[in-house]
Amino acid sequence: MKDCKNLIIVILAAGKGKRMLSHTPKVLHKILDKPMIHYVLKEAYKLNPSRIYVVTGFGHEELENYLSTNYPMAIPVFQEEQLGTGHAVNMVKKYYAKDWDEVMVLPGDSPLIKSKTLENLYASQQSRDNSCSLVSSVTGNPAGYGRIVKNAKDEVVKIVEERDACEEEKKICEINSSIYCFRASVLFDYLKRLKTNNSQNEFYLTDIIEEMIKEGHRVSAFKAEDILEVFGVNDRLALSRVSKIMQKRINEELMMFSGVSMTDPDSAYIGDDVVISNDVTIHPNTFIFGKSIIESGCIIGPSVQLNDCHIGKNTIINSAVLTEAKLGENNNIGPFTYVRPGTTTDDKVKIGGFCEVKKTKVGKNSKIPHLTYIGDTDIGQNVNIGASSVTCNYNGYRKNKTVIGNNVFIGSDTMMVPPVEIGDGAIVAAGSVITENVPQDSLAIARGKQVNIDNGAVRFRAKKEKEKNEGAVK
Ligand code: UD1
Ligand code: MG
Repeated sequence: MKDCKNLIIVILAAGKGKRMLSHTPKVLHKILDKPMIHYVLKEAYKLNPSRIYVVTGFGHEELENYLSTNYPMAIPVFQEEQLGTGHAVNMVKKYYAKDWDEVMVLPGDSPLIKSKTLENLYASQQSRDNSCSLVSSVTGNPAGYGRIVKNAKDEVVKIVEERDACEEEKKICEINSSIYCFRASVLFDYLKRLKTNNSQNEFYLTDIIEEMIKEGHRVSAFKAEDILEVFGVNDRLALSRVSKIMQKRINEELMMFSGVSMTDPDSAYIGDDVVISNDVTIHPNTFIFGKSIIESGCIIGPSVQLNDCHIGKNTIINSAVLTEAKLGENNNIGPFTYVRPGTTTDDKVKIGGFCEVKKTKVGKNSKIPHLTYIGDTDIGQNVNIGASSVTCNYNGYRKNKTVIGNNVFIGSDTMMVPPVEIGDGAIVAAGSVITENVPQDSLAIARGKQVNIDNGAVRFRAKKEKEKNEGAVK
């Protein structure tokens, strides 16, 4: 949409959300991997408004932190006491400038709203020259919402909150979404006069509608096509429902527009910022969050968690947890593998069962197949790390680095005690404890020498049998 130069957006997010029974501000409760308010801000920014204000209150420091990290352009406005939605909008008045044309108000607790609906609301406000346009919706279950009271000509007369509605009004199925576009000058004029004569003794934003209409202002309700868009989250049951809908929305988009296959979309949880290319298959019980990127042809899952990872083409990951890792193409990860931050792999790398890898570079065609811990290490190309090997990167005081060259073979159960370097082409014998550098093409053996005692086993058993018979086995 072209810039709405003089459009200001106010997002209401100060409420405690009593019904959430939580210490966390309601709008910071998560839907998939992002707080509820992320989804509202993201859609709001698509309108290119000149500014977005977020009214903060309960838990404001937490919300302000989130905003400054993720939406630094949004301006928090502190509402010390939550005296109602009208009072909340009025907090922004101190910034009011003559060049503000329209003020769009959005509740921070309706995360399913789409920018298209907001654009239509703005367009309808402009084309009708209204003082207020609002989004309503018709539902068979209006409980909990404010109702839009209309006259015989289908014109809005007022909005009545459920708690203040009479039996007749409660039967109305057209509900208030709490999404409005006001002419700025009119909005602040009416907010000034707002009273608290309602069941909650709050300054209801909804009350200015009736006053405006009585004094001849044009107000119209614009119905959202999909009731879900205006679904307000007031408790945890609603949060879980909205999460399910958001998951479905994201997954359907990936399947329909990105060519991603999902064996069971209900059990694939994919964050809003994740990018997945075509011909990727996602198997059940998989969580892909953060700014992860999955390139074409990958098979992810079952039972995989990826956070902020970049996965190269045709890589297979099964039953694994990966965080802040960058994998090359044709890697094979898992099952039961933990890849931690700072790990990068080249193409054709294998990290197999019960292996943990941290802050490590793995060269092309190298393998860490079984029961291994590798941390703070550079591994060259064509390296094989034998089962149960460990880089002992931490000596209790600091982390030290292990460097393994190209074409190195590390025998099973090798302990590498860094700082240590193993040169290109070297072989380390199984069971070694490597504390010194291994030169190029050397064979390192660092273990106790084996002694075979002739008939030793026979003599040992005879001794034990004798002790047993004398009742004195040691
Ligand atoms: C509100 C509307 C109702 C509408 C419903 C849609 C009013 C009086 N009622 O009711 O008509 O059907 O939304 O979801 O407006 N907030 C503040 N400061 C306050 C009070 C609230 O910032 O002092 C914020 C809340 O954090 C929330 C939003 O405003 O994000 C709406 O408040 P909430 O208490 O959820 O209102 P509802 O009862 O849902
Ligand atoms: Mg609400």
